[in-house]
Amino acid sequence: MTKIGIIGGSGLDDPDILKNPETVHVSTRFGDPSSPLRCGRIEGVETVILARHGNSHQYSPAQVNNRANISALKEIGVTHIIATTACGSLKEEIDRGHLVVLDQFIDFTRFRKNTFHDSFANGAKHVAMAAPFDSELRQRLYGTASSLNLPVHRKGCVVTIEGPRFSTVAESNMFRMWGADVINMSTAPEAILANEAEIPYGAVAMSTDYDCWKQGEEPVTWDEILAVFNKNASNVTSLLIEVVKGFSRK
Ligand code: ADE
Repeated sequence: MTKIGIIGGSGLDDPDILKNPETVHVSTRFGDPSSPLRCGRIEGVETVILARHGNSHQYSPAQVNNRANISALKEIGVTHIIATTACGSLKEEIDRGHLVVLDQFIDFTRFRKNTFHDSFANGAKHVAMAAPFDSELRQRLYGTASSLNLPVHRKGCVVTIEGPRFSTVAESNMFRMWGADVINMSTAPEAILANEAEIPYGAVAMSTDYDCWKQGEEPVTWDEILAVFNKNASNVTSLLIEVVKGFSRK
């Protein structure tokens, strides 16, 4: 049976979208997930919500225990994961408030635990990562966002940086030359682990800023990110609700 896991990013981690949610505490061999799991239904579809940075945003991007988060969702039996994230835009045409359905990542993190396969004692494990975002989830996210008339881009490559600092202008320009469309601090390790756990993973990113490459714009600040989030968070919430509802018509 379908069970959707939603991993909510900064500012998008407390969508009040479940009726009578039950709070479930799951512990994994990698430790505790960032938050208890909130379990309920949307139009009959079982849904589990996890706050990536914790219920009071207490975990920095590098502190997020992605292995525990993905393991906890696996243990509770989710069949699909939909992640939300804020991102900076590396392209003129991706404006503040726009949504991007991610289809590729560049992993520029350095110190994250990003595999379940630390040991090859029971055989080598090299997981394919050519297409890390599930195509069915991408279609559902893009199709639903379009039908809601939300400003949405069908695909985009995210570069995930280590953080918590933002990029230099030189780095931002380099990421643009590499062909990245948006930038954040969370997606790559999470997507890698979901793929290793064999849970179809889709992600929608909300652009909150132009990082620091764009002439005539002030470099990104955390306050700007929060302000743009708050203004547009309801779009992401509506999108999540409609995408989950879509599974009841499957
Ligand atoms: N998240 C939102 N905007 C960002 C940026 N410019 N760089 C890294 N992460 C971000």
